[in-house]
Amino acid sequence: MFLLAVLVNVTNISYLCTHKSNIEIMDNEVLRALRERRSVRKFKQEQITDEQLQAVLEAGTYAPTGMGYQDPWIVAVQNADIIAQLVRMNAEIMGIKGNPYYDAPTIVLVFASRPEKWANSIYDGTLVLGNMMNAAHAVGLGSCWIHREREMFDTEEGRQLMRQFGLPEGLMGIGSIALGYPAKEPLPAKARKENYYRVVK
Ligand SMILES: Cc1cc2nc3c(=O)[nH]c(=O)nc-3n(C[C@H](O)[C@H](O)[C@H](O)COP(=O)(O)O)c2cc1C
Repeated sequence: MFLLAVLVNVTNISYLCTHKSNIEIMDNEVLRALRERRSVRKFKQEQITDEQLQAVLEAGTYAPTGMGYQDPWIVAVQNADIIAQLVRMNAEIMGIKGNPYYDAPTIVLVFASRPEKWANSIYDGTLVLGNMMNAAHAVGLGSCWIHREREMFDTEEGRQLMRQFGLPEGLMGIGSIALGYPAKEPLPAKARKENYYRVVK
């Protein structure tokens, strides 16, 4: 009887250990960052460090791209005059008077070829933005995808800015992120919709 009890216990322990290590594998830092990243819409005015910016931009460059072609281009803007120009251009398209970038001290713009030239361009650019938002969270920053970059850079003023950034001709705006230290804890994620994924075996 005693021996049986010991065996049951040992079996339980080994089951628990396997179970625990599985949980650990499924809950590593990367997965936690992916789950916990939220859009931040209120930023401190203090600028982020160059090291943090570098980490975010580098994560963007490691996003997968169609055929490994690395089609997108990333431009991080911290210049006050250019930020003011981007705010005005975006707000005009949105038809608002406020700041569509929520006063973030850094704006990161992603450009890519026009889809007529490179069919993967929007997918590529979107993954770059996704990588950067997740990396931002991982290094303690807040970020939010800010849209309307396509329209902004489809104007003469936008094309002029792209030249000023030293980009090749013929690109389009994919999207941008507002980046900075969060000034407010974002709300927890909404519950994921039912049947969001299914497994077909
Ligand atoms: C393609 C795209 C465009 C978005 N555009 C904006 C935007 O212009 N302004 C904004 O505040 N948030 C924008 N967002 C952020 C979403 O509103 C946000 O990701 C969504 O509400 C889910 O919240 P979460 O990021 O905290 O999970 C955009 C997100 C995506 C993916």
